[in-house]
Amino acid sequence: MKYLVVLAFVALASADVKNVRQKFNGATITALNEQITRELQASYFYQAYSQYFARSDVALPGFAKFFSEASKEERSHAEKLMEYINKRGGDVQLKEVKLQDVCDTVSKGLDSTTLSFTKTTSCICNFMTGDVTVLSGFDCDKSKRDDWHNGLLAMEDTLVLERYVNEELLKLHKGHDDDAHLSHVLEHDFLDEQVNAIKDIADKIRQLKRAGSGLGEYLFDQKL
Ligand SMILES: [Fe+2]
Repeated sequence: MKYLVVLAFVALASADVKNVRQKFNGATITALNEQITRELQASYFYQAYSQYFARSDVALPGFAKFFSEASKEERSHAEKLMEYINKRGGDVQLKEVKLQDVCDTVSKGLDSTTLSFTKTTSCICNFMTGDVTVLSGFDCDKSKRDDWHNGLLAMEDTLVLERYVNEELLKLHKGHDDDAHLSHVLEHDFLDEQVNAIKDIADKIRQLKRAGSGLGEYLFDQKL
């Protein structure tokens, strides 16, 4: 009897969701859930950087704060998308979020990009693990950890990741441009911010290159 009551409740609840959903198809919901995972991955990646810069053997508090804020911002993007799916009567599905997946994505971007970067691999995953035997190529050799704390390398990773997220948002927009409301939300709440973020990070890369390491980086960190 109890089982039947629960079933009836579930049936009623799903009918209520259907009352909300209008021209919001399964493919769109899947694509939005995938974007949620990307935003959460970016949040995790920036959190790793924030903790890295907060270490006493790196000690760049400005960069630590910058990446902590970036992490919170990415999480808020994921939450915005979750709220949007619920608003349109879809199902939010949270997937696995792994730091290594983001490092792989960024390394791919660094490697294939036509932009001129200092390195070809994202090292933060290696630096965040306690296993000293884990090395993946020259760039991420832990014995060079002391030489690596240059914020420029972190900003290059950030630019690649922001460009990747932007690319995926543009695909999402193009693939579902018959959904006027979704297009509006993507354009106003996401794409504009991505363009601004890319410009801001590209500026920071140029300034860091100009400042160099040592005192230049210290002064840059102070104003972050
Ligand atoms: Fe984002």
